[in-house]
Amino acid sequence: MVEPLLRISDVWKSYDDLQVLKGVSFELLERDVKVIFGPSGSGKSTLLRCINMLNPPDKGEIYLRGNNITAPKVDLNAIRTRIGMVFQHFNLFAHLKAIDNVSIGLRRVKGLKKEEAYKKALEALDHVRLAKWADHYPAQLSGGQQQRVGIARALAMEPDVILFDEPTSALDPELIGEVLQVMLDLAKAGTTMLVVTHEMGFARAVASELIFIDKGSIIERGTPEHFSDSPESERVKQFLEKLDVLYGSHEKLLDISEEEEKG
Ligand SMILES: Nc1ncnc2c1ncn2[C@@H]1O[C@H](COP(=O)(O)OP(=O)(O)OP(=O)(O)O)[C@@H](O)[C@H]1O
Ligand SMILES: [Mg+2]
Repeated sequence: MVEPLLRISDVWKSYDDLQVLKGVSFELLERDVKVIFGPSGSGKSTLLRCINMLNPPDKGEIYLRGNNITAPKVDLNAIRTRIGMVFQHFNLFAHLKAIDNVSIGLRRVKGLKKEEAYKKALEALDHVRLAKWADHYPAQLSGGQQQRVGIARALAMEPDVILFDEPTSALDPELIGEVLQVMLDLAKAGTTMLVVTHEMGFARAVASELIFIDKGSIIERGTPEHFSDSPESERVKQFLEKLDVLYGSHEKLLDISEEEEKG
């Protein structure tokens, strides 16, 4: 049996009286890309925050390469270097240049010397096609560029898996394509990714499985083809119809960037 890279087992989480996650379980293999989607407030961000132990689950376990990271006395800093996170609102330090935003974790958490951290940070920025922008501050970058710095920051730590929390939903439509393209490139290069997104074009291009969450439970899961051809639950069908209206145009952006790549 292949050991999954990440195994989420019966995860429950509440805030005060509000039961947000109600027994979520799934697995992610090495080099796998899975997409989580579902309505606002369904618990998607909470799930990601449980997985990297920013908000530990109340009940259930999370295994990274077979090790239970929800067990007591686990070194959470060490775990977080292995689980990268990309946020909806980028979460960059405004007073730091791109290169410093990307290298700060390498220096503070991994203890690299400045020179070595800069070298790795530049490689990561090059990966997201921003090497030339290393000396710019976030305010001097577009939203799409800022998010690519956010992705470079995650990449630089060489994590086992990167969690993305609606990485394009705060971006203007014309900037979404460049971020999705970087994510597509990463996926095709074999990066293990768990992505909360409603970009169905991205999901169709690279996801092995889509997981639909509503009110803290997995309602339906399957391949992109399953969801486009024969979704089962009424809840999912209604949600996908709304998505078509809202997100149809972004998928075209993705097609365009793929065309550009070819020709
Ligand atoms: N720190 C917190 N304290 C109290 N309640 C919270 C906290 N974080 C989230 N919640 C609540 O938990 C529920 C799930 O929130 P969560 O952010 O996980 O949903 P989501 O699926 O990511 O939604 P969205 O699509 O809007 O990002 C919501 O009702 C939210 O108000
Ligand atoms: Mg969220």
